[in-house]
Amino acid sequence: MDTQQVYDSNAEKWLRLAPSSLSDFTARPLVFEACGNVAGRSVLDIGCGEGYCARELKRRGAGDYLGVDLSEQMIQAAQLQEAQDQFGIDFRACNIVDFEPTQQFDLCIAVFLFNYLRVEEMNRVFAMVNRALKPGGEFIFSVPHPFFPFVRSAQAAPFYFSAKGKNYFADVDAQFEGEIWKRGGEPLHVQCVHKTLTDYFSGLRGAGFSTLPEIQELTVTPELAATDEAFFAPLLNEPLHMLFKIAK
Ligand SMILES: C[S@@+](CC[C@H](N)C(=O)[O-])C[C@H]1O[C@@H](n2cnc3c(N)ncnc32)[C@H](O)[C@@H]1O
Repeated sequence: MDTQQVYDSNAEKWLRLAPSSLSDFTARPLVFEACGNVAGRSVLDIGCGEGYCARELKRRGAGDYLGVDLSEQMIQAAQLQEAQDQFGIDFRACNIVDFEPTQQFDLCIAVFLFNYLRVEEMNRVFAMVNRALKPGGEFIFSVPHPFFPFVRSAQAAPFYFSAKGKNYFADVDAQFEGEIWKRGGEPLHVQCVHKTLTDYFSGLRGAGFSTLPEIQELTVTPELAATDEAFFAPLLNEPLHMLFKIAK
């Protein structure tokens, strides 16, 4: 299914002003933590969606902020919310694969963007991010854990990708359809264009990042599961997402 269509037709389901979907608990808080002190730092947010992360980083004091997303409906939802909040966020609709920055940033975030791009497209975006960052600038991104679709075969709440009959190495760039649930019980359609761990590491190196990224493998911890057993416990200790942080 076409990604732009998926997000254009679900923008109002994605718009949220408080943590709601599974990854608002299992991933985004760790992305914000990895960003550290953002006070006054300029941010490029690629695949920004309806602006959930942008609003949070602005609340934490981020400076100039540009959010870019493929889906015009997601950007429209972001702009409508921005008209109320007046955080000073610039949201633009654009395919990130064709995007060329006209300024440099202190920080670039990409929260669940690369699972929509093929390896060759991701590598082009990595190279763009390297150009878009000031010297010493940081690039932080989260992706589905590459093992997750292969470890969890149940197509059930609160999160899955369907990789039936697919192979970890042979099916790079294959698109797995999936769903991630909101705490209220509503599923959101998500997609995962499969990549191996090696694809991320060699892509970053090929794009000119010359240090090793810091990585975190994210899961449902026992502490999180204890807050709502019914919702979180099916994924206790499963490899859900990976967070990468690398400096230019
Ligand atoms: C799972 S959503 C995450 C949105 C946001 N980062 C967040 O954390 O709430 C993925 C977003 O990536 C966007 N996206 C997918 N492919 C893209 C592309 N080629 N260029 C720009 N955005 C893209 C989708 O439109 C969608 O809004």
